[in-house]
Amino acid sequence: METKKHKHSDDEKDNPHQSGNEVIHNGKADERSQIRDTDLDLQDVEGIGPTTAKKLKEAGITSVMELAVTTIEQLAVDINCSKDSAALFIMAAQKLLRESNVLEKEFVTADFVLEKRKSMLRCSTGSKSLDELLLGGIETQAVTEFYGEFGSGKSQICHTLCAMATRPITEKGLHGNVIYIDTEGTFRPERLQQIAVTRGFDALEILKSTTLCKVYNSSHLGLIVKDLGRYISERNTKLVIIDSIISLHRAEFTGRGTLADRQQRLNSILHKLVRIAEIYNVAVVITNQVLSSPDTFFGDPTKAAGGNVIGHTSTYRIYLRKSGENRIAKMVDSPYHPYSDTRFTINQKGIDDLEEGTRREKELEGGSD
Ligand SMILES: Nc1ncnc2c1ncn2[C@@H]1O[C@H](COP(=O)(O)OP(=O)(O)OP(=O)(O)O)[C@@H](O)[C@H]1O
Ligand SMILES: [Mg+2]
Repeated sequence: METKKHKHSDDEKDNPHQSGNEVIHNGKADERSQIRDTDLDLQDVEGIGPTTAKKLKEAGITSVMELAVTTIEQLAVDINCSKDSAALFIMAAQKLLRESNVLEKEFVTADFVLEKRKSMLRCSTGSKSLDELLLGGIETQAVTEFYGEFGSGKSQICHTLCAMATRPITEKGLHGNVIYIDTEGTFRPERLQQIAVTRGFDALEILKSTTLCKVYNSSHLGLIVKDLGRYISERNTKLVIIDSIISLHRAEFTGRGTLADRQQRLNSILHKLVRIAEIYNVAVVITNQVLSSPDTFFGDPTKAAGGNVIGHTSTYRIYLRKSGENRIAKMVDSPYHPYSDTRFTINQKGIDDLEEGTRREKELEGGSD
């Protein structure tokens, strides 16, 4: 068997479990949700011999899990093979994970699925009312999208989630670290510190648990997402935030002629995120902007940017709106949440509930703004 010769080989020698998601960083690990693929080698995948394994490692794909979440198009380019072969490799990797009980089987009974969902964790947003709308908080194994106009609270939710995700599971956290992919340059460590201090958390611990990744263009974002599986394993990550998913693509792909290309790239990023969320049992939160559609005669003339690609791929979509000093969150799309809305506010604690008095006043007003 070939020795592991790739850029991370030294780390792995020191700690053979480094490349799996069972790594315990800061003493944090939720055993129920950890996936053990560390015993598997790329060459254990059917059809992969030493040459292909070497090519994969050179392309940065170092584990069976990483191979299983790659897209066909990307893999074909990475190892210079046909799309058919790429598809076979990915399917064989997924098959091996299934046989090793890392992934669930393709056909399973609903009771098994229900059992698997028990390994799903929920992270509080910091606001009870927003948590109620989400039936308990942001879920792992899913992509949750917050969209809304500027100042509607998208980045504030992301900051608050950074503080909440590091909390123990018994305190509605995920007991893990956070990867914050910032495409707009709006992440502020001071704000995260303020939120942590106001909530009585250890601010330094939370700052250390949050890994920031600044992204400068859409191709860069594609590359980061491509390697995300490895970053997640290395950092015992339980929450991945992308604030925002669309801004770079919107800025770079202007004009109708480029739309198909843009949508295809977004599609590939989003599909990868969905697979990563499921396979690594992490929560993925993305933010999205709105477009105004002047042809709307009834209702709100704004809709989420990114078209159907984002709408169909994210598991849950929440629309945020400003309402005076407060914010309204509305569950727009979900396979099981009822359509409903709620109010929250933004203060020193980040995202927070309205004060009792204000909430009642608003209810009496009938909630229309
Ligand atoms: N420390 C704070 N205390 C109270 N409110 C705050 C505080 N920090 C930010 N805000 C509120 O948050 C708003 C900004 O929200 P946020 O940055 O989440 O917007 P966004 O939805 O991400 O917008 P964009 O689309 O521009 O990124 C500000 O308008 C302000 O009202
Ligand atoms: Mg923002």
